[in-house]
Amino acid sequence: MFGFLKWFKLRFVMLAVAVVIGVYRTEIQQVLRNLTDRYLDHSDGNKAGIPLQFQDPNNEASVNLPLFTPEQLATYNGENGAPIYLALLGEVFDVTRGAKHYGTGCSYNFFVGRDASVSFISGEFDEYDPETADNVLTLKPSDLIGLATWKDFYTKDYEYKGKLIGRFYDENGQPTSYNDQYLAQLEQAQKEKTQAEQLLEKYPGCNIEWSEATGTRVWCTPTSGNGKERSWTGYPRKLYSRSTTNFQCACVPEDQVDTLDAAKQVNHGDPMFKPYDNCDRHATECFYRV
Ligand code: HEM
Repeated sequence: MFGFLKWFKLRFVMLAVAVVIGVYRTEIQQVLRNLTDRYLDHSDGNKAGIPLQFQDPNNEASVNLPLFTPEQLATYNGENGAPIYLALLGEVFDVTRGAKHYGTGCSYNFFVGRDASVSFISGEFDEYDPETADNVLTLKPSDLIGLATWKDFYTKDYEYKGKLIGRFYDENGQPTSYNDQYLAQLEQAQKEKTQAEQLLEKYPGCNIEWSEATGTRVWCTPTSGNGKERSWTGYPRKLYSRSTTNFQCACVPEDQVDTLDAAKQVNHGDPMFKPYDNCDRHATECFYRV
């Protein structure tokens, strides 16, 4: 009698477990996937024999990873227990671990199953147009640097899965001429950024304030720009760089101001200094309205 009761209880418990597994199948899959991810993250990848270099999209070894068509990529959308993938600059990453950001109904679900690189800069998450969504050459040089930073983020934080056939890679996984163009523009943007940083070391920024009554006021002090004390104050000048029509205010040392104003250019014509309109060339503060 007791034997039968035990057997009956056991059958009942097993039935209940089966029902629970059936109902929560998707959630259980998700939990198991997270646990696996966590294990892989925290275990010593090399000791466990996991070839970490395969996770680097810039690594030659990654040519062995799969190529995705846009249609295939679209199926990795997190629905019915599917993993969540997104592409950035033609590189595919598994972001299932970030389901709280990318899952259905979450803030960044827009990026899932597609390459929407431009939206990483524009912040436009409503309309998806496959013709323009990854056309990053329409972006400003500084935005290309922003995109490269996003790519570094995904390379570091998520698993690299392969390449997307399309704008950046052809059917053989080879970089397209568009990709070459993107890389060339990125390199140029990085060079210009470094150049601008070096210039601001040499010609530190001005203090700046705005009021309804006077408009924008820019002025130089011995610590303006980088907060470091220097032996000179300098005169405010509009500093233009080649890639942008915008300018920033830089303090030019007294002993260079005449030469720079006369030359109108430095460093082989790249950046250019201009005096502020209606401001004495030797004034330490200037006012302007945009
Ligand atoms: C161009 C605009 C933006 C883009 C492309 C963007 C993109 C993203 C992405 C992709 C993630 C997920 C990162 C991951 O996988 O861990 C994220 C997380 C997050 N974003 Fe944004 N975001 C933008 C603007 C904003 C703004 C304006 C706010 C705040 C008002 C914001 C707040 C957050 C927060 C709080 C998180 C979660 C951070 C965490 O839990 O670790 N984002 N963002």
